[in-house]
Amino acid sequence: MYYDENYKQNDNMKEKLILGIETSCDDTSIALIQGNVEDFNQLPKILAFESFSQEILLRKWGGVVPEIAARNHMEKIPPLLESVMNHAQKKYAEIDLISVTTTPGLLGPLLTGLTTAKTLSLIHHTPIAPINHLMAHLEAIHLDSIVPYPYLGLLVSGGHSMFLKVEGPNQFEILGNTIDDAAGEAFDKGGKLLGLGYPAGKIIDDLAKTGDPKKISFPVSLLDKNEAHMSFSGLKSALRLFIEQGKNQSEKMEDICASYQHAIIEAFMKKLVVAKNIFTQKTKLSNFPIVVGGGVACNSYLRSQLSHMDQNILFVAPRFCTDNGAMVANLGLRSYASRIHFPECLNLDAKNLLVSKEQKLVDMKNKKAKGKTS
Ligand code: KG4
Ligand code: ZN
Repeated sequence: MYYDENYKQNDNMKEKLILGIETSCDDTSIALIQGNVEDFNQLPKILAFESFSQEILLRKWGGVVPEIAARNHMEKIPPLLESVMNHAQKKYAEIDLISVTTTPGLLGPLLTGLTTAKTLSLIHHTPIAPINHLMAHLEAIHLDSIVPYPYLGLLVSGGHSMFLKVEGPNQFEILGNTIDDAAGEAFDKGGKLLGLGYPAGKIIDDLAKTGDPKKISFPVSLLDKNEAHMSFSGLKSALRLFIEQGKNQSEKMEDICASYQHAIIEAFMKKLVVAKNIFTQKTKLSNFPIVVGGGVACNSYLRSQLSHMDQNILFVAPRFCTDNGAMVANLGLRSYASRIHFPECLNLDAKNLLVSKEQKLVDMKNKKAKGKTS
């Protein structure tokens, strides 16, 4: 196969054109951004950014059905791609890097994005950056703010609730995690029990605005433990019991939503104090940025309650909180140096297909080190 490393016109320039493809779950989202791959004190420019949310299509199933989501991605990727390229007035051959979510997510949906990335790469010899979706959520803060490392990350999405020590674009350590459901699941499953539809996060957020958050006391586990791990499945069971006992009949839906939401957000407020201490112990820093990202970071109550707690708290802008291609392109820009060149990026490595290049290098080093000691 013919290829030329200098094929890209922009290759010796620091300004790069990055295509971001996000298909890990139920949002198909494509973005084209331009930014400096060496100087992160300049904000990237978003040239075009388009998404299609499958929410309405998936509503009748009450959640995400992986095969249906994958089929919808296949339908939506081509028109979105075309529209983004037209809007930005760029040609595919001008793209310097294709940034695509490869982990974590649903296999079928991930494969649709990865296949698109590889096809474009095959035609135009473009390198690929495999993107960790969780890091992309937090690093999205850099789409409109300049935030130094290290920072304490609070990732709150449909599938994850985590505190992380973030030291670089792909350097992180998990300080706390949910041991069962994520906060987004607590919102969505709670909303389902209340008959509010899918996804329920925004619906609960809106109803809660006119409700009393102290009206009903819903319990959350692990709050008295001096660790940053969280648990939300007990809260969902408490709501189910509340409904089974008919207690919801005598309460206003607004008050139930406000109280249920309060229980989730209070858990984050308590655990943030613990996570900050762990972060300080590990870094010896007492003053550091705290970045909150992921779909649940759109929640208005979370934003107002947490911002009262600490002046160092920064929230990812709501339009970059739920799954989107701009956050994927942005992390590609920041990890440009570790991109996988053409044609290696086309390799079909069935065993490690969804693992990033960095992780593979770490694994290889560990294997070698193990070999030496044994
Ligand atoms: O980050 P995201 O788009 O997808 C995952 O990576 O999981 O997050 C989706 C989650 C859903 O659970 C949805 O209910 C929740 O974000 N969400 C909200 C709000 N907007 C979206 N949760 C609470 N309040 C909101 N305003
Ligand atoms: Zn997400």
